[in-house]
Amino acid sequence: MPSSVPAARPAAIAPTGHRRWAMGMPFVMAPRQPWCWPIVAMPGPGSLGKVPAMQHLAFCLVVALGLGTVAIAARAELPERLSQTGLDGAGVRAFEPRFALWSDGAAKRRWIALPPGTQVDASQPNAWRFPVGTRLWKEFSVDSRRVETRHLVLGADGRWEFASYVWDGADAMRAPARGQVLTLPDGKRYDIPSVGDCIACHAGARSPVLGFAALQLGPAVPALLREGLLRGAPARWVTQAPDFVAINAAEHAARGYLHGNCGHCHFDGGVPVPLRLALDVGGRPAPVDGAAVLRRAGTRNPYQQMPPLGTREIDPQGLALLNRHFNPEILP
Ligand code: HEC
Ligand code: HEC
Repeated sequence: MPSSVPAARPAAIAPTGHRRWAMGMPFVMAPRQPWCWPIVAMPGPGSLGKVPAMQHLAFCLVVALGLGTVAIAARAELPERLSQTGLDGAGVRAFEPRFALWSDGAAKRRWIALPPGTQVDASQPNAWRFPVGTRLWKEFSVDSRRVETRHLVLGADGRWEFASYVWDGADAMRAPARGQVLTLPDGKRYDIPSVGDCIACHAGARSPVLGFAALQLGPAVPALLREGLLRGAPARWVTQAPDFVAINAAEHAARGYLHGNCGHCHFDGGVPVPLRLALDVGGRPAPVDGAAVLRRAGTRNPYQQMPPLGTREIDPQGLALLNRHFNPEILP
């Protein structure tokens, strides 16, 4: 392990339920990450000599040491069936983030349900806080066929619970906490993430809810405010949607994409590399090394790929947005 990587030690579980490394890295990572296998199983001397591979290796060790907490996170308090989670009940509303996460081309729909009479606390514009009992869902379809619906609930103890439900006929059943590999009708492999994966992306972020957030909802925010769903929000949001400052449309699209796909790990206090891809309401994007971003987003070599989990295929449209902004001369 390189000396720059601190020894891994379990962080205390904060009252909010977020588990973090001392350096702010999401605490629990899954044991069976595809991006860990080649490194742990057969460390090729060529790749390990390179710094990113070493960091990756360190990250995998972190993963292995975090296993103990996966057990805690996987407390099976969520119902067995999706139909028991309240998705068909009253007060469920659909929403759509502006900068969606690339999920290898799957089509997605999302919903939120707040307990009756409650509001989202928007007083920290970049990290909304949700009332106990908040529920969110995200449904994934491939070739117009529902495959899984992921579910997030804020429990009475202030901890977020994560689960995925796998569709089978008219209902979906809770997947094992360690995740699951499905084979789709066309023979394609489909990964249901482990609870450790959910936590790696969601629980370490500024808010564990990633898409129902000021910059992600953007133009939809004034209506939410008028409906009384938000409290503590800046008064100007009633008429002016929250946004970040960009010099042109290409920058807005590219930096929004990086915020949505990378910002939950790469923020101040996130993974310990000097790369700030999360955006702030009203702020300018931090300068970044565009070549490094293009290189990591443009590969699915497990030593190098970004994001490191949740995808096996490059996002062609996302990469085009990034090229248009960081590398405009190579495009027609
Ligand atoms: C690779 C990172 C990643 C992993 C792994 C991941 N998520 Fe997410 N998730 C996101 C991002 C980013 C969003 C918001 C953007 C979007 O929906 O396209 C999101 C959105 C959601 C939403 C909608 C509410 C919200 O936060 O906006 C739910 C529910 C959800 N995820 C549940 C889960 C569950 C449960 C798991 C594990 C089974 C999981 N996610 C795994 C990154 C991830
Ligand atoms: C689940 C957390 C996570 C997500 C999401 C994520 N990264 Fe990373 N990223 C890491 C970790 C951990 C490292 C350090 C290990 C390594 O270099 O592989 C890293 C390293 C990097 C580096 C090298 C930085 C340096 O100084 O060495 C770049 C560039 C990068 N990421 C870009 C991205 C981009 C672009 C995205 C979105 C398309 C993204 N990352 C999404 C966790 C993440």
